[in-house]
Amino acid sequence: MAEDQSQSAAREPSAAVTASTDPQACAASFDPASLDAQFYEDPYPTYAALRELDPVHRCPDGTYFLTRYADLDGIYRDRNHYSSDKKSVFGPKFGLGSPLYEHHTSSLVFNDPPYHTRVRRQIVGALTPAVMQAMEPQIVALVDRLLERMEEQGQFDLIDDFAAAIPVEVIGNLLKVPHEDRGPLRGWSLAILGALEVSITEQQRTAGDRAVREFTEYLRGLVADRRRNPANDDLLSRLLREQDLSSTELLHNCVFLLNAGHETTTNLIGNGAQLLLNDAAALRRLRENPGLIATTVEECLRFESSNQLGNRLVVQPVRIRGVSLEPGTYLTLCIGAANRDPDEFTCPDVFDIARKPNRHLAFAAGGHACAGMSVARLEAQVAILRLIQRFPKLHLVGTPVRAARARFRGFRSLPAAVG
Ligand code: HEM
Repeated sequence: MAEDQSQSAAREPSAAVTASTDPQACAASFDPASLDAQFYEDPYPTYAALRELDPVHRCPDGTYFLTRYADLDGIYRDRNHYSSDKKSVFGPKFGLGSPLYEHHTSSLVFNDPPYHTRVRRQIVGALTPAVMQAMEPQIVALVDRLLERMEEQGQFDLIDDFAAAIPVEVIGNLLKVPHEDRGPLRGWSLAILGALEVSITEQQRTAGDRAVREFTEYLRGLVADRRRNPANDDLLSRLLREQDLSSTELLHNCVFLLNAGHETTTNLIGNGAQLLLNDAAALRRLRENPGLIATTVEECLRFESSNQLGNRLVVQPVRIRGVSLEPGTYLTLCIGAANRDPDEFTCPDVFDIARKPNRHLAFAAGGHACAGMSVARLEAQVAILRLIQRFPKLHLVGTPVRAARARFRGFRSLPAAVG
């Protein structure tokens, strides 16, 4: 394996190389910093080539790209050899002291214990089964309002008019952000999370910095107001009770929370709708057996994972599949590839809405596993089921437009009609 790695580093990428014509060359020349339109459209043949031929792939910049389910699952659960702390990577990427640097290095997801534990405890504590139960009728009412409006329009965009309109309200409710203030949240979120793509332009960096500044400025006012009028149950009030959090840490974790459930859940709902509308048999089966909605959403999470890439930093020497990884090595964990690994999933390229078991890694695993997974599942189950039940003739019209992103997989636009 070590020899394969050095060969892969030496080989020049070729524009003509595709996973179907030459999987070996495709795997060897893979560079996540230089992806083309064909990859964004369908990354899975490339992921399959990597998983089979070069599962611990050395990228041209010296980082490693991992694609096997067992490797990712092991890494996510191992906090001795791997760290979530990204300061050494985000310094050069965003510029030390920049708003994006400050934000991404303060949020819990990019930190280790004990800081991570303190923040996570409050978030998990706020999302109790009772809170989830109380949330369901609110989500149903919100989804029905959106469907009502879509019915009046006849033709609409399943992303802008539906999928993206749900998470912003749900997370806004969790933090009790006043309704009239929610307009800019999605734009801020897209700009801040967009900056996490493997390579970004100067323009994206500037937009991300601006979004962090505006978002934290807005939240400063909200926090001051909540300190004056504390509530018991909402997430922000719980975080305020965590004495050891500085005000900068508090603000950035709120920004993270508002972002974390945003584009990811929008993409889950959008990807799920697109998968079903392109698979008449699955759509009919779900309409006839609405009890399959929970396994359907799990399958959407596995098949088109809305968060396709994660990262870890090696902090103790470790060997994976014969490749020695030294402390300081940066790893990209390809959830999208692991979730199609035939060693874990039978017929992994088949979309099976009744699949069981389905131990996908869409929410990662271990100590940093998604703290909002029950919120995301609930939103997607309610949204997708009510959408297909309300509109028996729902179909796609025009051309779906994919957001050309490797980390967050979803559509920018998904035009559809009800009749
Ligand atoms: C389909 C929707 C979602 C997907 C695919 C998703 C995926 C993920 C993944 C993969 C991680 C682990 C990141 C890592 O450690 O590398 C994560 C962390 C996290 N997610 Fe989600 N997420 C979703 C929705 C949500 C929602 C709705 C919320 C909040 C209500 C949320 C809150 C969080 C938080 C707080 C963390 C950090 C956990 C920690 O570091 O301990 N997520 N998510």
